[in-house]
Amino acid sequence: MSKLTLKELSKKRLVIPVIVIVLILLFAVSGTRANPEIERDINWDSPETRELFQNACGDCHSYETKWPWYSRIAPISWMIIRNVNEGREEFNVSASALGEADEAAEEVLEDEMPPWEYVLLHPEAKLTAAQKDVLVTGLLNTFGGERKENKHDEDNEHDDHSE
Ligand code: HEC
Repeated sequence: MSKLTLKELSKKRLVIPVIVIVLILLFAVSGTRANPEIERDINWDSPETRELFQNACGDCHSYETKWPWYSRIAPISWMIIRNVNEGREEFNVSASALGEADEAAEEVLEDEMPPWEYVLLHPEAKLTAAQKDVLVTGLLNTFGGERKENKHDEDNEHDDHSE
């Protein structure tokens, strides 16, 4: 009986330092959450479009990312940082090279963007049908591109967006 208690105690003595060390390591390797200097101002067709974009897209497609607290903790941080970097690479309203801006409306129409796992953690990014419509029209007015209503028709013309 006494042996067991001693064992448990030493276990506990180890458990806490191990947890602390693991937490420190996870924070230490969490990666760089950078918001570089903005290189471009977009001439948005309306303040509404801009706001909808900031809410639903801006975290991954601009240099004005609002990094959540959990983006400090590995391994979630790696996923978030990778997502943001990939998103910025494809399309970035803050960079001198805009990227695939003319695809933006289509991504919203097809429900490809914002990514569902992002919406899960950012309920404010969940667009109502009306907001979606405003955003699609606004993105088309701002960046150009075509409005294609039928998802299946254009699946043949475009490469697969699913990772
Ligand atoms: C959580 C981060 C995130 C958010 C929020 C987000 N995107 Fe993306 N986006 C990505 C990533 C990562 C990629 C590149 C990989 C891919 O295509 O899935 C991408 C790709 C794109 C592309 C290029 C598509 C292509 O493959 O040609 C466009 C355009 C785009 N997003 C528009 C939007 C729009 C518009 C919104 C808001 C309605 C939005 N994104 C929200 C992460 C995000």
